[in-house]
Amino acid sequence: LAAFFQPKLLAGKRVLLTAGPTAEPIDPVRVITNRSSGKTGYALARAAAEAGAHVTLVSGPTALTAPRGVRRVGVQTARQMHEAVLAVAPLADVFIAVAAVADWRVVNASTQKIKKQGGNASGLPTLSFEANPDILADVAALPDGPWCVGFAAETENLAEHAEAKRRSKGIDLLVGNLAQDVMDADTTALQLFDAQGVHPMPAADKLTAARRLVAEIAARLPPRGP
Ligand code: CTP
Ligand code: CA
Repeated sequence: LAAFFQPKLLAGKRVLLTAGPTAEPIDPVRVITNRSSGKTGYALARAAAEAGAHVTLVSGPTALTAPRGVRRVGVQTARQMHEAVLAVAPLADVFIAVAAVADWRVVNASTQKIKKQGGNASGLPTLSFEANPDILADVAALPDGPWCVGFAAETENLAEHAEAKRRSKGIDLLVGNLAQDVMDADTTALQLFDAQGVHPMPAADKLTAARRLVAEIAARLPPRGP
């Protein structure tokens, strides 16, 4: 019932989110991935829908089901996530990048399962990597694109890294947290970084934090022309 009574701060807005990890194949049975349960992104998708937005959630592999009223697009790799996001981003009013995107993919992924003894002389496989596209930076660079929010989970020097990331990606709002505090947890302590500086938010369960973050986003959203 609480969901029903959330203020409709994003009524009619189109909100696009990414959530969860991506998984980059090594071979058909092995992947390289990031640690992410998807809970923060899914809570934010739910909070945006409760606030009256049309929500599309592009999600890497997670154990979660899409919140009510949210259109979920399932992907595996960063490149698939990039493609799915860029296909709809020009129509979105807000883009919130919560996904823990793998920074690299394996270029010499095998089409057949690599056997334990099938690698080099030592029996170990050698993997080569190349960089994945930066989804958030690409959306932020779209002419007339959506208003962008990034996330940064850091293990140290949060304020420094978060503000540097906000500037380098050219986004208005970056949400920071300490990675060790949030991994798979149900509570989260977020800090908002914007042009005015840093604004710590109280520690809360992920849905409460997501609802507060939706209010912060709605309050910052510029009016969009016709
Ligand atoms: N992000 C993205 N596409 C990528 C990498 C990151 O959209 N290929 C987004 C994440 O969803 C997050 C923000 O960028 O909103 C910051 O991600 P993070 O991994 O913290 O930053 P990076 O720029 O990848 O830097 P690093 O991993 O070196 O800290
Ligand atoms: Ca990264």
